[in-house]
Amino acid sequence: MEQQNILITGGAGFIGSNLANYLFKTNNVTIIDDLSMGNRDNLTSLENIEFIEGSVTDYPLMTKIFETHQFDYIFHLAAVASVADSLVRPLETHEVNCNSTVCLLELAKQTQKNLKRIVFASSAAIYGNLPELPKKETSAISPQTPYAIDKYSSESYLLNYGTLCGVPASAIRLFNVFGPRQNPSSPYSGVISILIERYKGLLDKQKSVFTCFGDGKQTRDFIFIDDVVQAMLLIAQSKVAIGEFYNIGYGKETSLNDIIAIMDSILEVELQIEYQEAREGDIKYSYCSNDKLIKLGFKPKYTVRSGMKKYISYELGELDE
Ligand code: NAD
Ligand code: UD1
Repeated sequence: MEQQNILITGGAGFIGSNLANYLFKTNNVTIIDDLSMGNRDNLTSLENIEFIEGSVTDYPLMTKIFETHQFDYIFHLAAVASVADSLVRPLETHEVNCNSTVCLLELAKQTQKNLKRIVFASSAAIYGNLPELPKKETSAISPQTPYAIDKYSSESYLLNYGTLCGVPASAIRLFNVFGPRQNPSSPYSGVISILIERYKGLLDKQKSVFTCFGDGKQTRDFIFIDDVVQAMLLIAQSKVAIGEFYNIGYGKETSLNDIIAIMDSILEVELQIEYQEAREGDIKYSYCSNDKLIKLGFKPKYTVRSGMKKYISYELGELDE
């Protein structure tokens, strides 16, 4: 990308900071993040990055940002990313996960004259538990949790604003992303970041037990963050992607038990697992068809295993080949 002005909401979080760290070298990046899950230290440099600590639900602040900047690209990633958390506090998560999108779209329509694209982070969760697999973009939608309902609602606002008001928009339906800078500190954090913490404990010779909700046979389409960043940039820069939504995953199904087996084998240890009741609203089987993304030109560089090796090397030091 040539030098562009880019807004990343949630840019201190896992996906946002990886995107910002890639983009800041050749672009002007503005980030708004309330640091509820993100961390300033996730950003490798603050050069070319304007960091605004605040909430996307603070509409006067958002208005000020939009009135004083002209963005070429907006990546709207700020959200409460946990499905389980949205069941515990649906009103708060609705404000962040849905209402902020409407605000952002209104502000984009009113103030942004150069906008080439707004990309919204939707989710595989919107497909729910219907039996059709793999999930295609044309598959039926069945959002079953406040999180999934808000994602689908936001996505619908976004794409219809595009048509109605000429705001150029694309939605990405992310499957399960893993890699450096995912915050493991909450019980609602992404499962692989929690697993890494348990392995660190085990390697430090502490008692370390992973709590698996359900039988571990639930599957996800785990995708390494570097490939996700490339997919996001490809979609943002492709004119044919305006008004479209794309699955982002490898198109491969891996169970939680298999992920643990992969991590055990890379680290040559055996993690202790305690099985508990499955979480309410949890999806049993999930993986995607990524044919639409491949057709757009997506060329993944990793597999689940090679991405996992890179992630483990980042967290625990270089591994022997
Ligand atoms: P994350 O929690 O690491 O990042 C979200 C960021 O948003 C955090 O830095 C958090 O501090 C910030 N944030 C939360 N509420 C905010 C608010 N009110 N105002 C400003 N900032 C706020 O999660 P992530 O994994 O990087 O997810 C990024 C986006 O992608 C989210 O929208 C998430 O729903 C979506 N998504 C993620 C995955 C995944 O596997 N990680 C899959 C599907 C969709
Ligand atoms: C994840 C993302 C969500 C995204 C969705 C897309 C996070 C926190 N969630 O939700 O934003 O929209 O993918 O598919 O990034 N589990 C355990 N033990 C734990 C934690 C989790 O067994 O300690 C289980 C869960 O019950 C679930 C699986 O691991 O069955 C994955 O959980 P999680 O990483 O939270 O992912 P999703 O719910 O799929």
